Amino acid sequence: MVSFVTIQNKLTMNLTTDQKRYLEEWMSFLRIPSVSADPTQKEAVRQAADWVKNALDKVGCNHTEIIPTAGHPIVYGEHLIDSNLPTVLVYGHYDVQPPDPVELWESPPFEPVIKTTHLHPEGAVFARGACDDKGQMFMHIKAFEIMRNEGSLECNIKFMIEGEEEVGSNHLEDFVKNNKEKLACDVILISDTGMISREQPSISTGLRGLSYMEVTVTGPNRDLHSGLYGGAVANPINVLCVMIAQLHDKNKRITVPGFYDQVEELSLNERKVMAEAPFRLEEFKKSIGIQEVTGEEGYSNEERRTIRPTLDVNGIWGGYTGEGAKTVIPSKAHAKISMRLVPNQDWNEISDLFRKHFQSLAPKGVTVSVQTHHGGYAYVTPTNNIAYQAAHQAYFETFGIAPIPSRGGGSIPIVPMFENELGVKSILMGFGLDSDAIHSPNEHFGLFNFFKGIETIPRFYSHYCELQKKTN
Ligand code: BES
Ligand code: MN
Ligand code: MN
Repeated sequence: MVSFVTIQNKLTMNLTTDQKRYLEEWMSFLRIPSVSADPTQKEAVRQAADWVKNALDKVGCNHTEIIPTAGHPIVYGEHLIDSNLPTVLVYGHYDVQPPDPVELWESPPFEPVIKTTHLHPEGAVFARGACDDKGQMFMHIKAFEIMRNEGSLECNIKFMIEGEEEVGSNHLEDFVKNNKEKLACDVILISDTGMISREQPSISTGLRGLSYMEVTVTGPNRDLHSGLYGGAVANPINVLCVMIAQLHDKNKRITVPGFYDQVEELSLNERKVMAEAPFRLEEFKKSIGIQEVTGEEGYSNEERRTIRPTLDVNGIWGGYTGEGAKTVIPSKAHAKISMRLVPNQDWNEISDLFRKHFQSLAPKGVTVSVQTHHGGYAYVTPTNNIAYQAAHQAYFETFGIAPIPSRGGGSIPIVPMFENELGVKSILMGFGLDSDAIHSPNEHFGLFNFFKGIETIPRFYSHYCELQKKTN
């Protein structure tokens, strides 16, 4: 018997003995605080890598290894049965976002519990990484276990699970470039995105690119008394706010010159197809507690958050932010600014355009420095290939409803890199929901979604292998 620590103590789903074990294993994985951004968690990140390697060993990979990098390690595993058969490379990440702000979690972020929500009446596991990406990645390990036990796997499989996705995959690019032979495959399979709903399953066909910048405005050589100097000296925070305010025009378009030059515009027909996907604006607003949505003029809510580029301040600081009041003109002000990019925008070029423009906005009396953190290209999955068709068929069988293609707004920079370096396309079989609160407090992943994923993935393999045979 398995006992669960649950807040509502509610598990309204009947699980087989194996399913209970999957759930226990997944929950033990979630207890490891593998926060890649936090240097104090380096050991925990390493422990999570060991955990993944061990899980791959247990399900029968015939070779596994932990590959150190200058950052966090990569876990690699493979099960090669016949070089004449197709090879699927599974990519995922075992690192997670920082849990902050921890006080907003209803239960501790690394003590997984099962609770029900209105979208997850069967229960969902609440923990950092439950969905992004420990839960979704683990579905692939369990799907592999099932296929091995059934003897139904008719292709070669490779796993590459990294520990630096949430901090920009800095060391993965070199690894991929230097290991093309090792990573050679016919298709890459990833569950690190979402789907619309269980009533309308979807397959992600797009990711946005990213350009992540940090800016610093420097004024006087030290913090000053705001009474003695205020009024005569440029205040870096005031200046930074004015500069940021100039980055959008009144139609919420980005003012960086050249920003839209390469943007791929969708045809009216493509936009029409997109608009047919079910979307409830009232529910969207309610779920995040806002009265009104806003964004670039001329585009729908769904277009704004998937096929259009954006610019957002992620954080802004400087001066005095402690308890009470301190009268001060700060010497420096900082902000982290990210831009989500769409196909054809080159993130290096956009970073340069941003730098030039931002510097040109600096008034007299301050200096401005602009630093690029990391970036990546957008990606679009074509739907006219056998891998997409295999995924489509798989979802159709397990959900009983045909999935629709859906462009997503998030970024996985390694995906376009795979295409460039390995010449291989990725299929994004995401099972999370937007409401699963990834990167937020109370992240969770539904038990229905988790087990549906484990059921759907083996069907992808069988259709993919079958379609491959037919085309050969
Ligand atoms: N899994 C997400 C990306 C994602 C989520 C794509 C949902 C589509 C739908 C990934 O872990 C992530 O968070 N990526 C970062 C980018 C990275 C460079 C830090 C992002 O999108 O902010
Ligand atoms: Mn992810
Ligand atoms: Mn993430």
